[in-house]
Amino acid sequence: MAVVVSSNGNAPAFEAKLTVYVFICVVIAAFGGLIFGYDIGISGGVTAMDDFLKEFFPAVWERKKHAHENNYCKYDNQFLQLFTSSLYLAALVASFFASAVCSKLGRKPTMQFASIFFLIGVGLTAGAVNLIMLIFGRILLGFGVGFGNQAVPLFLSEIAPAQLRGGLNIVFQLMVTIGILIANLVNYFTAKVHPYGWRIALGGAAIPAVFLLFGSLIICETPTSLIERNKNEEGKEALRKIRGVEDINEEYESIVHACDIASQVKDPFRKLLKPASRPPFIIGMLLQLFQQFTGINAIMFYAPVLFQTVGFGSEAALLSAVITGTINVLSTFVGIYLVDKTGRRFLLLQSSVHMLICQLIIGIILEKDLGTTGTLGKPQALVVVIFVCVYVMGFAWSWGPLGWLIPSETFPLETRSAGFAVAVSCNMFFTFVIAQAFLSMLCGMRSGIFFFFSAWIVVMGLFAMFFIPETKGVAIDDMRESVWKPHWFWKRYMLDEDDVEKRN
Ligand code: BGC
Repeated sequence: MAVVVSSNGNAPAFEAKLTVYVFICVVIAAFGGLIFGYDIGISGGVTAMDDFLKEFFPAVWERKKHAHENNYCKYDNQFLQLFTSSLYLAALVASFFASAVCSKLGRKPTMQFASIFFLIGVGLTAGAVNLIMLIFGRILLGFGVGFGNQAVPLFLSEIAPAQLRGGLNIVFQLMVTIGILIANLVNYFTAKVHPYGWRIALGGAAIPAVFLLFGSLIICETPTSLIERNKNEEGKEALRKIRGVEDINEEYESIVHACDIASQVKDPFRKLLKPASRPPFIIGMLLQLFQQFTGINAIMFYAPVLFQTVGFGSEAALLSAVITGTINVLSTFVGIYLVDKTGRRFLLLQSSVHMLICQLIIGIILEKDLGTTGTLGKPQALVVVIFVCVYVMGFAWSWGPLGWLIPSETFPLETRSAGFAVAVSCNMFFTFVIAQAFLSMLCGMRSGIFFFFSAWIVVMGLFAMFFIPETKGVAIDDMRESVWKPHWFWKRYMLDEDDVEKRN
């Protein structure tokens, strides 16, 4: 599958306007990110609602009533975690199918499939009468996420004028954060609606899903996708429409050329295993591991649960989740602003130190002041919330968006889509691991969990320092020459491919 993506305005400046049509297409497609974010944010609030627990997880509810017996373990239940994590496991499997659908049928139908999966999933979860229906619904939502997360970032990158592609890529992350925030707000209000507030909360995802479904009927297919499927005339027409200028020949030729090269690679997944693909491949996968092992989703999924653990009442806990959600959205703008100015490395390194300090402080306070029973004093609980917020800030302008941006800009065209699909599924895998394990880890490790994430942050900071090169300002198809070949470590994979093959 061919993808023409450029990172930051260094691509050849083809003539283009930011047309109203492109703008509408971007907004509609980005709703895929919003649904993803909504699903991330909603589960924590719902799993903290008593009506929901009573109905599906009576054992957890019983334990929660005796919470004073053990702070850290009241929510530890494999099935409860499966409610959250099943979505990511399904998304992991779905992203490989999505990659095939995306190249064989196009980005637009992939998004339509996503919205249909979302709608059925929402119906099943919001209307669930038993655990099987609930989990099955989450799995369908996961299919939606797998299809959406594969198609939307590629769609955005392909449809955007070259000079706006870097910023537009982060619009996806921005919509994810907005989705999380909306979910937090919905949780806050629906928690007061008894006994079916949780149904409203889960059903809320239908609104963006309907929007995506009908919206995706209006949007166009990307020129790259049309041309790679040999619909050259339609591709040219689409390009003219989205660019809003008559003279699109040069860009058209460049897409045809890129598609030609990409079509010579018969099996991009195999090509990914070749030495020359190693640097972006290894970095793309490790970025997902690191992004998730910052511990961010322990907060995004379980913020209300976490805040209750340190002694907030349910309402205060939900409200605190709204606050962290707002900080997440606002700080993403900082990322959009800085990513092409200070560069990727600065953001990764700065935030590693920043997040490390926050995790350590939170861990130390819990270690000292929160016993297995009892609650934190008001001042300490406040300090914990403040440091959770500061921590979220650091993530939102670094490992969050860059986890998606870097894999989309460092692969050469012929392996870009396959490489991105692997990155998406790795992300889902590690998200699954955290979703499934966090509550048990909290129960087993207690405050030590924050030191566990701190250790990972040290590892990722060191990795970023030595192995992640700066890609700011580098033209997307020049990574090999300008980034990998001069790099002290990665250059060993950049000898002529024949030499490397002989050496192996
Ligand atoms: C991550 C999600 C996370 C979100 C938080 C995304 O980049 O992939 O797992 O929940 O950021 O804003």
